[in-house]
Amino acid sequence: MVKSEVKVFGPATVSNVGPGFDLMGFALESPGDEMIIRRNNSGKLKLFNESGCDLPLDTEKNVAAVSAKSLLNELGNKDGFDLVFTQKINPGSGVGSSAASCVAAVVGINELLGNPFETAALIPYAMDGERVASGSTHADNIAPALLGGITLIRGYDPLDIKHIPYPSDLWCAVVHPELEIKTLESRKLIPEQVPLKVALQQCGNLAGLVAGLITGDYPLISRSVTDVFAEPYRTQQLPDFDILKKDSLSAGSVGTGLSGSGPSVFSLCRGEEMATSVGEVMRKHFTSRGITAATYISRISEAGCKII
Ligand code: HSE
Repeated sequence: MVKSEVKVFGPATVSNVGPGFDLMGFALESPGDEMIIRRNNSGKLKLFNESGCDLPLDTEKNVAAVSAKSLLNELGNKDGFDLVFTQKINPGSGVGSSAASCVAAVVGINELLGNPFETAALIPYAMDGERVASGSTHADNIAPALLGGITLIRGYDPLDIKHIPYPSDLWCAVVHPELEIKTLESRKLIPEQVPLKVALQQCGNLAGLVAGLITGDYPLISRSVTDVFAEPYRTQQLPDFDILKKDSLSAGSVGTGLSGSGPSVFSLCRGEEMATSVGEVMRKHFTSRGITAATYISRISEAGCKII
């Protein structure tokens, strides 16, 4: 039976994961976006915001609409669709708010059209929306938001994306301080060139992180979750980031870093209990400095974007 309406969940994601700048990310079980996608008879894409978040409703500026149009253009499809945002991750929070919307839109439209594309083949269309938000076409939020798990982008041209296995007791704590950092602005802080010595550090750390995840070697993961490309420049926007990192690691975090372009901060942890106590340490870091903060404690989500 041809469906005329679907509801889709697009998960929040932690990208970069320390040394995987623009290359690595993972999906969380929650929070996430929820979007209803339904056919309309107007031949146009129409946007409705019931999420309570402030969102652009211009189809040139709304990231989900840009992704949806990119997919429809590729298919030469002139049907009309409503995108109804019913639940939205706060934009600018650093947990892949744009990616969650982009993947929800393309998964929903693909479903209503009878799935002409396999899920992984939707990545380039979702990336077109992400470009509007960040000014660059990275997929380190899009890939895990769509496919779930921990994903590594081995290469962009052509896209070569692999799932990285990880230990079953790996959990994550994310703290979201009420500060807004726009990825577009935050990317301008990063130098375009890095010295060879710095590049080698980053390569070693990313290789170490991948090896540590695959083999469940927590000390190796811990030594590897360090970003020398972006974090040193971006964390200047957060109060006492060095103290936050030190306190999280002392409380039992396996590795702490900026989630995407921030301001959210993630800690990889062994087990739910440890993630909960590290999350509390991170939350207090901000609240004791007068900044309201929310925490999310989650396993890595195997599911990625799904019809609900
Ligand atoms: N890799 C991206 C960045 C993620 O760090 O800018 C944020 O969208």
